[in-house]
Amino acid sequence: MTTGKGLKLVERDAGGIDLAFRADVLAGLAEPQKAIPARWFYDDAGSRLFEDITQLPEYYLTRAEAEILRGQAEHIARLIGPGRVVVEFGSGSSVKTPLLLSAIAPSAYVPLDIAGDFLRAAAAELAAKFPGLPVYPVEADFMRRVELPAEVEGLPKLGFFSGSTIGNMIARTATDLLRSMRETLGEGALLLIGMDLVKDERTLIAAYDDAAGVTARFNLNLLHRINRELDADIPVAAFAHQARWNDRFARIEMHLVAQRDVSFTVSGQRFAMTAGETIHTENSHKFTKRSGQMLLAAGGWDPCARWTDSEGRFALVLAEAKPPRSAP
Ligand code: AVI
Repeated sequence: MTTGKGLKLVERDAGGIDLAFRADVLAGLAEPQKAIPARWFYDDAGSRLFEDITQLPEYYLTRAEAEILRGQAEHIARLIGPGRVVVEFGSGSSVKTPLLLSAIAPSAYVPLDIAGDFLRAAAAELAAKFPGLPVYPVEADFMRRVELPAEVEGLPKLGFFSGSTIGNMIARTATDLLRSMRETLGEGALLLIGMDLVKDERTLIAAYDDAAGVTARFNLNLLHRINRELDADIPVAAFAHQARWNDRFARIEMHLVAQRDVSFTVSGQRFAMTAGETIHTENSHKFTKRSGQMLLAAGGWDPCARWTDSEGRFALVLAEAKPPRSAP
């Protein structure tokens, strides 16, 4: 087993504050519809809560994707071939990543994640399961092109972006990310990407507002994180979790709804909200076959295979890096 040191690429000020986090929170709270990008959910507590979400009876996404990886392992392996470096965008799930790695005989595994401690723990667990597989964790914001470890330079890459995390971005950001992935992975790369599908509203709302309240804790954890890391005094108990279906954009939205008028300070800046006003914390877009294909094409990827689970809830798509073209 080889476990890389983990390259640290997150920028912090002298007091240890993550500069990008502070900038996103201050800008987002100053908007008329307050909004904070969903990627900030994933501090260590948020990453653990998300793992809990994936076990919930209502949250079908993880089980459906694992079912595809299990059931289609042979076909997926045949199309991908052996010896690729698996570059996972996100530090990996304890279920899906091993399923992929054992199906395809990769030459190395490079998990990329912004949550450093969680990344290193997940990488160590994975390395223990696959003795002999070099594992090189990289702590980085993968929304931009990432410098991969020198050890994997020149080797063919397979990007793995599971869980339908692509759906957490609006189309422009998703397109930019797909293009950055292409730059990170280089010519000849393949991408295996999970996309959750449009379905009935009841199933979707239940998946994002579970009976046990785990998703509510996940959403509210963002406020605890802001208080802890950005010298803030948000009255967390004055907010409630809400999941809504936005049909126009084919997405579930998560909001934090102020239950009364509130005011608070974040990094020295004062904000006020009236009762009923919300902070929009997440979009989770749902795809059709066509909308998924169009998004991948806009991001520079050509879909070459697509699988769905037995109930048609979720799709896993294999795509290849398209040569850049300037004309139709
Ligand atoms: C990570 N992402 C794909 C999850 C989703 O389903 O959009 C995040 C999540 N939010 C609430 N539950 C799960």
